[in-house]
Amino acid sequence: MQKLMIAPSILSADFARLGEEVNSVLEQGADVIHIDVMDGHFVPNITIGPLVVRALRKITTAVLDVHLMIEEPDAYIDDFAAAGADWITVHVETCRHLHRTIHRIKELGCKSGAVLNPATSLSTLDYILDDLDIVMLMSVNPGFGGQKFIPSTIAKTKGLKNMIETRELPTAIEIDGGVSPDTIGAIAAAGANIFVAGSAVFGRDDYGLAIAELKARASDL
Ligand code: DX5
Ligand code: ZN
Repeated sequence: MQKLMIAPSILSADFARLGEEVNSVLEQGADVIHIDVMDGHFVPNITIGPLVVRALRKITTAVLDVHLMIEEPDAYIDDFAAAGADWITVHVETCRHLHRTIHRIKELGCKSGAVLNPATSLSTLDYILDDLDIVMLMSVNPGFGGQKFIPSTIAKTKGLKNMIETRELPTAIEIDGGVSPDTIGAIAAAGANIFVAGSAVFGRDDYGLAIAELKARASDL
């Protein structure tokens, strides 16, 4: 079984104290730092760019998981890799030449992942799955933190797990959106192993307790 990882999304952190917030979740059990990059075009919100990744790279050796919710990701992946991203995930909806983009990310020395919106079919992965380190399924429509988990993600996760097992691949399954103590058990049982959690971590007073509770519920299969 793949290692279970909790990836707090800094979208819900206090940006005025970002370094402290990141160190705090890492000291309290976080495994990965999830960084949501939004351009105001692919999604209706604008967040952060490579400068913030570079700033965080200086304060931690933890895995920086950069989720690109942007049009034309090819124009920016080199910048994010140079800034210190460890994982770069791109939406299949934004990539005209997904195979090229995925392989460019690998050439840059990063783990490479494809992301599917809630209404995007698993069949879009048929001819690229073998090349991916990570598949991330959106369990909300991307753009904002604090949204409600879309239940059809559970069946989709099971379908993806099945595809990965059939092909005997080591691909990780990451789920993003609405992950909470109430939803994480079913998501883990469906086969996911990396859990992005924004409001369920940074929205709580005690980050350590929040992360411990998520891990406990995810392992409680
Ligand atoms: C949504 C982002 C998510 C978001 C998750 O577009 O990709 O990573 O921060 O936030 P929660 O966990 O609050 O749903
Ligand atoms: Zn995200």
